[in-house]
Amino acid sequence: MKALILKELGQPLIVSDTDDPKANGGIIVDVKAAAMNHRDVWITKGMYPGIKVPIILGSDGVGLYQGKPVIINPNHNWGESEQYQSSTYHILGLPTQGTFAGKVRVDADKIRPKPEHLTMEQAAALPLGGMTAYRALMTRCQARKEDRVLISGVGGGVALFAFQFALALGCEVWVTSGSDWKIAKAEEMGAAGGLNYKTADWKSFGKQTGGFDVIIDSAGGDGFMNLVKLCNPGGRICFYGGTRGNISKLNPQIIFWKQLSIFGSTMGSDKEFNDMVDFVDRHKIVPVIDSIYTLEGGNDAFLRMEKGLQFGKIVFNIQ
Ligand SMILES: NC(=O)c1ccc[n+]([C@@H]2O[C@H](COP(=O)([O-])OP(=O)(O)OC[C@H]3O[C@@H](n4cnc5c(N)ncnc54)[C@H](OP(=O)(O)O)[C@@H]3O)[C@@H](O)[C@H]2O)c1
Repeated sequence: MKALILKELGQPLIVSDTDDPKANGGIIVDVKAAAMNHRDVWITKGMYPGIKVPIILGSDGVGLYQGKPVIINPNHNWGESEQYQSSTYHILGLPTQGTFAGKVRVDADKIRPKPEHLTMEQAAALPLGGMTAYRALMTRCQARKEDRVLISGVGGGVALFAFQFALALGCEVWVTSGSDWKIAKAEEMGAAGGLNYKTADWKSFGKQTGGFDVIIDSAGGDGFMNLVKLCNPGGRICFYGGTRGNISKLNPQIIFWKQLSIFGSTMGSDKEFNDMVDFVDRHKIVPVIDSIYTLEGGNDAFLRMEKGLQFGKIVFNIQ
């Protein structure tokens, strides 16, 4: 089969022919489309624990199994608790071989029929980002229709799903981004408004919006304190990433006085994966595709994500 392979950390990816995976008690899916996550970029730079090369990256995929279109749940060994993952939890695409290839081996209980309203590329965009956004917004923050929601960095894959899910709930949703054009796109999709975090006047944004009941963030860093200040009494903030690094300035008084809840969240359980796909099916949500590449264009795709040029998911069409 053809695959996009990371042979050495920090080096360009290589497309080459390699042996088909063996089922080893699982099943083999003929991959038709796969999508990127920032995790794939972090791995090429060695910024993930337990990396072994060579490896085929890719956590998101759809394909054919016994001739039928299926979507893949990237979880391995989430475990028994809905509260947290087991100590042996891992995600398709490291350490197991991923979806940027003609075939992938998965456990038989990790596939389900592809939602019919989605193309292969749209469905491939969904699993990891959709599941992470669903758990952060629905399970951790318990978002409801009455909540005013802020999605920070809306250009990101997970952030955009959280945005679409909050809109589907009927919430008033605001966004931040480092690009005005991404804010404009979010407004076209239904955002009440947005703020550029690079040129932000956070105080007047708070006055303009009336503050937020739920905030979803993946940046962390010192900017996180702005989000705490924007939170209404009883508000919930959830972060699933730390792109901007440690949060060194956190004011405990604001947090306890406003009775805020701050959650960390990672991926989601198998139940949440299924709930998320059901939710997408029920609301006929269509993931936003930024661009579609062939495996041969893999390095361009990775560069696009690294530079943060995308709005929506970067997808591989795999023949
Ligand atoms: N815990 C988990 O299970 C989990 C799952 C998925 C992802 N993640 C992590 O979450 C992060 C995003 O992943 P992704 O795949 O969605 O990445 P992505 O598609 O590459 O998006 C990167 C995001 O970073 C945002 N950003 C950059 N600087 C920011 C700032 N100062 N303030 C607010 N937002 C900022 C970008 O917003 P704009 O483009 O709008 O400026 C964009 O949303 C990564 O760190 C990733 O490792 C964690």
